[in-house]
Amino acid sequence: MGIYYNNILKIIHNFNKMINNKISAIIKARRSIFPSQFNGQKIEQETILELIKNANTAPSHKLTQPWFFKVFSGSSKTSLAQELIKQNQLLQHTQKKDKLLLKFQNSSHIICICMQRDKTKSIPEWEEIAATAMAVQNIWLSCVDSNIGGYWSTPKGIEKLNKFLNLKKNERCLGFFYIGIYESIKERKIPRKNIEQETEWFD
Ligand SMILES: Cc1cc2nc3c(=O)[nH]c(=O)nc-3n(C[C@H](O)[C@H](O)[C@H](O)COP(=O)(O)O)c2cc1C
Repeated sequence: MGIYYNNILKIIHNFNKMINNKISAIIKARRSIFPSQFNGQKIEQETILELIKNANTAPSHKLTQPWFFKVFSGSSKTSLAQELIKQNQLLQHTQKKDKLLLKFQNSSHIICICMQRDKTKSIPEWEEIAATAMAVQNIWLSCVDSNIGGYWSTPKGIEKLNKFLNLKKNERCLGFFYIGIYESIKERKIPRKNIEQETEWFD
């Protein structure tokens, strides 16, 4: 009788929880945290590796797993910033240059989000970009409820970094994921579109 009752409870419980509320809460809590909010402290490499391992579980068509990452910290961050400035005239104005250098300084690591196009082009490129973005989302979600924050930035002239990043012909960099430690952040209300109104249902 006890087992029967427990099973009924389990069924009711599962029915009410078709979706794990904790996961919904994590997804809804994800947000961009910008370098101006970082305290400049360095995150342990082990933690960064854990984030990258989470990224690596993203789905991909034909399992091409197109994402890969080049991670900059310490003085290599400055070299990366200098190269970006060198390649982008717009960043050469003192104010913009200083702003960018400060962003790099405040960040613990800059993760270059890279993508490798399947050599046989067995799937469309957009699918490989989409898969890489899903890998980045895994990093972003992994930061929820921690003191690690980050955001994806796509600086102008990123394609000019190919040589510096030692990328092959079939590889490209889709941007930087700035990552750092923050103490506190202000509340931010992002106006989300009304997806309920925009969704079409067909029975
Ligand atoms: C592919 C991609 C590229 C982005 N590039 C930039 C960028 O160049 N500069 C920037 O300020 N934010 C960039 N963002 C971050 C968005 O501004 C941010 O996600 C958006 O404001 C929503 O905020 P939230 O991440 O807190 O939900 C990018 C986001 C994505 C997904």
